[in-house]
Amino acid sequence: MTEADLEQVMRIERAAYPYPWSMGNFRDCLQAGYSCWVAELDGELMAYSVLVAAAGEGHVLNCCVSPAWQGLGYGRMLMDQLIDTARGHGVDSIYLEVRPSNLAALHLYQKLGFEGIALRRGYYPADHGREDALVMRLKL
Ligand SMILES: CC(C)(COP(=O)(O)OP(=O)(O)OC[C@H]1O[C@@H](n2cnc3c(N)ncnc32)[C@H](O)[C@@H]1OP(=O)(O)O)[C@@H](O)C(=O)NCCC(=O)NCCS
Repeated sequence: MTEADLEQVMRIERAAYPYPWSMGNFRDCLQAGYSCWVAELDGELMAYSVLVAAAGEGHVLNCCVSPAWQGLGYGRMLMDQLIDTARGHGVDSIYLEVRPSNLAALHLYQKLGFEGIALRRGYYPADHGREDALVMRLKL
């Protein structure tokens, strides 16, 4: 991912999430040197991911497939690539947070071997109040 991708990334981000990141969030990740990736299909940007790896730990900060391309195996490919990248950074464990109501993401992470290890109460904004985050970990 580069600065030049951010308009397309934001178009997908707004379509895919009820509470999307801002462009500033992506810019901060690029400037901080996080591992930021885009996937293209026939020249069209259709998925992206953000990983931060440090001190043997990886954290998935974003993982998103354009709604037009969901349910076709691309999320799995995106996460497989992210896990390989984390391995390349010498990571032992990868962590992420997910809304328990996000069944597509939850099932994907469980299939990849992530396990729920903690709950962060009221972590996410939600339509009615707040929603907890399930913290998941994959040991490599
Ligand atoms: C979560 C997300 C990345 C999954 O990507 P995807 O390309 O749709 O998923 P895949 O087609 O690769 O499916 C992989 C597995 O996820 C699960 N899955 C996918 N869509 C699902 C759905 N609608 N309901 C339940 N499980 C689902 C299945 O277990 C599937 O494996 P299977 O096909 O062998 O049964 C995608 O839905 C997305 O971008 N959502 C919006 C952004 C988001 O919520 N990101 C995660 C934030 S924590």
